Amino acid sequence: MDLKTQLKELQEATQAQLKQMNGNHAKELQDLRVQVLGKKGSLTELLKGLKDLSNEERPAVGKLVNEMRDILTASFEEQAKIVEAAVINAKLEAESLDVTLPGRPIAAGNRHVLTQTSEEIEDIFLGMGYQVVDGFEVEQDFYNFERMNLPKDHPARDMQDTFYITEEILLRTHTSPVQARTMDQHDFSKGPLKMISPGRVFRRDTDDATHSHQFHQIEGLVVGENISMADLKGTLELISQKMFGAERKIRLRPSYFPFTEPSVEVDVSCFKCGGDGCNVCKKTGWIEILGAGMVHPQVLEMSGVDSEKYSGFAFGLGQERIAMLRYGINDIRGFYLGDARFSEQFN
Ligand code: PHE
Repeated sequence: MDLKTQLKELQEATQAQLKQMNGNHAKELQDLRVQVLGKKGSLTELLKGLKDLSNEERPAVGKLVNEMRDILTASFEEQAKIVEAAVINAKLEAESLDVTLPGRPIAAGNRHVLTQTSEEIEDIFLGMGYQVVDGFEVEQDFYNFERMNLPKDHPARDMQDTFYITEEILLRTHTSPVQARTMDQHDFSKGPLKMISPGRVFRRDTDDATHSHQFHQIEGLVVGENISMADLKGTLELISQKMFGAERKIRLRPSYFPFTEPSVEVDVSCFKCGGDGCNVCKKTGWIEILGAGMVHPQVLEMSGVDSEKYSGFAFGLGQERIAMLRYGINDIRGFYLGDARFSEQFN
C-alpha cells in the first residue's frame, strides 16, 4: 500500500472512531489523540515512509501529510468540544435543581438577652438626652478605685475582690471609673453632664447560679447645677416603671458607697405579686435592683469640678440582675454558655 493510501486510511479510521465518542469517552479521546498525533503516534510512523519516496514525489506527499495533520487536529478539537459539552450536560442533568422549590431557611441567631436589656435601657436614657459612653475593661487602679474615693488602703476595697494584672492595672470591678473619665472630659460651662455607660465588669468570685466572675453593669451619672436627690429618685422611678411596669413604686434604703454621699440601695415593688409577697421578692414585696447616691464632693473635686457649684447623682445597675428578674432566669451561667436554646427564648 502506498503512503498516500495509508494516510487516507488513517484519516478515515481516526475520524470514524472520533464520531463514536461521547461524554463517556473523554479519556479515550485523549488516548486516541496521542496514538494518532503524538510524538510516537501513527502519523509520525507513516512519516518515516517519506524517505523511501523519490525526490519528485516527496514534496507532494510531504504537503499531504501536513494537510492531514491539520485536518486531524481540527477533527480532534471539534470532537473534544462535543465531548466536553456532553460531560457538562451530564453533570448539569445530575445536579439539576428545581428552582420552584421553596428555599431552605438559614438558621439565624438573635441578639443576646443582655444586649437587648442594655439597648432597651440605653434607648430610655437616650430619650432623656443622656449620652452613652464606653469605658475600659482593663482599667487603672487609679480610676477604678482612687478616683472613686477608694485610696490604696481603703477597707471598702474588700467589697470588690479584684483581678489585678499589675499593682496599678486591673480588670475593672465596676463601671464607676467611667464617671471620672467622662467628668475629666466634660466642659461644665456648656451644660450638665448626663451619661450612661454599659459594660462588662470583673470580680474574683466562685461561679454559681447567682455569682459570676464577670457580669455587666450600667453606670449612670448626671452632674450639673442644682442636681438633687429628687432628680435621682425621679430618674430611678422612671427607669423602674419602664423596665418592670407602670405600676411600680421605688423605695430607697440607706447604704454605703465611698463615691456617693448619701448612698442608697434602691428597691422596686415586686412586679409579680405587686407587693403582697411571693417567691420572686422572697415574701418582702420589694426587689433590690441597684445602688445609687449623690456624687461625693471629693469625687467631683478630683475631676476638677467645683463641688460648691455643681452636684450630681450616680447609679449602677446590674444587667444580669434586671434580665433575671424580668424573665425569670434562675441561673446566671445561662447568659454566658452561648447555647442557642437559651438565646432563642428571648427572640
Ligand atoms: N459601683 C457600685 C457597685 O458596683 C454601684 C454604684 C454606682 C453605686 C454608682 C453608687 C453609684 O457596686
